[in-house]
Amino acid sequence: MPAEQNLNIVPFVSVENMMDLVLATGAETFLRELATYVEEDFRRWELFDKVARIASHSRDGVIELMPASDGQLYAFKYVNGHPKNTRSGRQTVTAFGVLSDVDSGYPLLLSEMTILTALRTAATSAIAAKYLAPKGAKTMALIGNGAQSEFQALAFKALLGIDNLRLYDLDPSATERCRNNLAGLGLTITACRSAEEAVEGAHIITTATADKRNATILTDNMIGPGVHINAVGGDSPGKTELHRDILLRSSIFVEYPPQTRVEGEIQQLPADYPVTEFWQVVTGQKTGRDSDGQITLFDSVGFATEDFSALRYIYDRLRGSNRFENLDLVADPDEPRDLFGMLLRRAAQPATSK
Ligand SMILES: NC(=O)c1ccc[n+]([C@@H]2O[C@H](COP(=O)([O-])OP(=O)(O)OC[C@H]3O[C@@H](n4cnc5c(N)ncnc54)[C@H](O)[C@@H]3O)[C@@H](O)[C@H]2O)c1
Repeated sequence: MPAEQNLNIVPFVSVENMMDLVLATGAETFLRELATYVEEDFRRWELFDKVARIASHSRDGVIELMPASDGQLYAFKYVNGHPKNTRSGRQTVTAFGVLSDVDSGYPLLLSEMTILTALRTAATSAIAAKYLAPKGAKTMALIGNGAQSEFQALAFKALLGIDNLRLYDLDPSATERCRNNLAGLGLTITACRSAEEAVEGAHIITTATADKRNATILTDNMIGPGVHINAVGGDSPGKTELHRDILLRSSIFVEYPPQTRVEGEIQQLPADYPVTEFWQVVTGQKTGRDSDGQITLFDSVGFATEDFSALRYIYDRLRGSNRFENLDLVADPDEPRDLFGMLLRRAAQPATSK
């Protein structure tokens, strides 16, 4: 938390400062620390004010607003998902977010969240796997080697000790880039020519592909007993990655059912199909993995509390740090009700001081 400052000033974490913060911390340490915040907020789940995100769909993508509050802090994230964007040099997912003080309603922090989303998604995936993946899992298949992929790989290494990675992407140059980016970080990496090859011998399968349709990245015959599936890329109506038959053989864990029923893999199932809310596994109210042969599926769509946790973590990290800029974001007239007077006083100032 930055030191007390003028009421008009809100700390802003730019992309550059976010990168420096991650690099100064070390990506794996950052992921581990962030994961403790995400897990803590899953444990505090019941006290959160929660709502399914507000999604504005268009032909090629979606723009979403994701709010959550624990009664003391409030956060929201703006995020988009446009799978075609990479063709025009843009990213599929970009984001920024705000953390506010509930008592005054004043913003405490404005932050880039494109990098932070990749980190929080990876941290959340790894926490879920900590509870759901087979014990001693060492090998992960990672299908879809785009922007999220290295973050996923590092989170699973940092939190679960995954050291063997099997990569596959429709575009071999994506796999090559992912492999090069992860070189020297302690992972044994195999580039595969198909999703079938990638899942061979994998204890955990992560899918993080982007396509605005009901894709079939994994078919039923590819999933053996005991595997944990971390399905990240199916996160919007009409945008899924798994064949329905896999769902019918799996124990399914979700973040917030009202959102996942619309956006997740389970949109392929009846609205009352039984699923387990992941927070209940974290609090011990429900069992996670209960047998060696069980197929567990974390049907991840990304929920607002995870962004809340990420912003809460960044806010704490800013204490004693200079990795933010001061933004003149909130109008602060000398007398609170004299907002127009502030405008008049500005007009009266000499042009040189403007
Ligand atoms: N669940 C969450 O919390 C969460 C958070 C962030 C992103 N996402 C989703 O994760 C997915 C990946 O995001 P990204 O930013 O890495 O996207 P990206 O566009 O950078 O990468 C996606 C990759 O998937 C590959 N791909 C597409 N179809 C494929 C197929 N059939 N087989 C193999 N590879 C295929 C593409 O070639 C590309 O390299 C997106 O769908 C995004 O919406 C989910």
